[in-house]
Amino acid sequence: MVPMAGGSLLALSVIVLAAVVSTLLLAPVAANDIDALSALKSGLKDPNGALKTWDPQLVDPCTWFHITCDDHKRVTCIDLGRQNLSGPLAPELGQLDRLQYLEVYGNRLSGPIPKELVGLSNLKDADFSNNDFCGPIPTSGPFRHIPRRSFANNPRLGKKC
Ligand SMILES: *[C@@H]1O[C@H](CO)[C@@H](O)[C@H](O)[C@H]1NC(C)=O
Repeated sequence: MVPMAGGSLLALSVIVLAAVVSTLLLAPVAANDIDALSALKSGLKDPNGALKTWDPQLVDPCTWFHITCDDHKRVTCIDLGRQNLSGPLAPELGQLDRLQYLEVYGNRLSGPIPKELVGLSNLKDADFSNNDFCGPIPTSGPFRHIPRRSFANNPRLGKKC
């Protein structure tokens, strides 16, 4: 009996430990997504209130307008085309390591396209067209597959900021 009890105690300990570790590992990940989107929001002017549902007090950003998440409540899509936004894109967007789609066409966004975005290995498509970006057009990482038209109509893009 004693070895059995010891065995099930061990099994229970392992289960508890696994639960604690996975909570610790998963919780900050969704929090990072919130931090990245909050950094984006805080840098932007949003006269039309497109970002007004972006409440950092929530446990995840999956109910925010213009945001899509996967089953693990990680951000996969930012859909902010034609929202009358101005200001820069936050470098913190480079933390959104599940991001697949970044659509920001047709605003008045300015400053560089953050070089941190080249680390977004899941990025499938992005559209920066019809804004006022400047500086280098990223070409490495996921940007190898993003077409030139996604950068069109940014008169200062490719020139020094
Ligand atoms: C865009 O925002 C400006 C204020 O910055 C406002 O005057 C204008 O009406 C807005 N345009 C649209 C299409 O909502």
